[in-house]
Amino acid sequence: MSNTRNEKIVNFYEMSRKRSERILPYVKPGRIIEFGCGEGATLSLLSEYFQGSTIVGLDVDRNSLMKARNLANIILVRGEASQQVFRPSVFDTVIFKFSLHEIYSFERNEGVKKALSNAYKVLKADGVLIIYDFLATRPQPVRMKIKSNSAKVNFMKFAEEFQPRKILYHVEKEWIILEKADCLEFLTKGNFHDWEVEKKEAHYYYTLDEFREHLTKAGFKVKSIVKYRFEEEIWKEKLKIVTVNFDNPESYVLIVAEKSE
Ligand SMILES: C[S@@+](CC[C@H](N)C(=O)[O-])C[C@H]1O[C@@H](n2cnc3c(N)ncnc32)[C@H](O)[C@@H]1O
Repeated sequence: MSNTRNEKIVNFYEMSRKRSERILPYVKPGRIIEFGCGEGATLSLLSEYFQGSTIVGLDVDRNSLMKARNLANIILVRGEASQQVFRPSVFDTVIFKFSLHEIYSFERNEGVKKALSNAYKVLKADGVLIIYDFLATRPQPVRMKIKSNSAKVNFMKFAEEFQPRKILYHVEKEWIILEKADCLEFLTKGNFHDWEVEKKEAHYYYTLDEFREHLTKAGFKVKSIVKYRFEEEIWKEKLKIVTVNFDNPESYVLIVAEKSE
């Protein structure tokens, strides 16, 4: 599954690798696993930087794994993040990079709970969990003006058919008033090419408080949190579709947690 159509225009693979570089300082070498490794943008970087480590990539999607299979020194596994494929306490680092929102989209809180509990089990007592994903804002109404008729049609489709939550909005002259997370969700859908998949996918699913709550319940202690804004080129792409009354927001979060035994 894709991240966003806009991000593909900006060369998604390269961007994904650049984002992965942010993870590197927190990785504990040894045995490292990425749940939802996709085509392997992060795995390739890990194999460069942690040459003495065993690096495993797990994903449900056969096509993505096929693209990742030419990477050197990587073990690829086809499976679900919630499945208990590995023995307990074997990994030093578990990474979810832009995969937890997909798990949430298709399996909701229950899927996240199972995936985090699985991560907890497979991590060693002093292991590190790294989550890098989209970040929802606390409730905050914003104003958005859509620039083209085709984007207006797409917004109607989004408001009527988006499955993870109900999209509430009202119109004041040329402005649409809606929740900031819903505005960003619409803009992250890009030009709606894969709508049948994208209507099921929530990118802005948890606020920081909700991430904390799920991690604490799974037994983790949060050690560090860094928030990021959209890359400038991605924000510019979004502003081609709409005018909004807010600046480039903090939309991604990198959370590092440890087992709190
Ligand atoms: C947006 S991609 C991110 C890929 C990679 N982590 C990156 O940042 O380049 C999300 C990946 O998560 C995988 N995924 C979604 N749900 C999953 C699950 N329950 N178990 C394992 N992988 C899953 C998808 O197949 C997809 O390859």
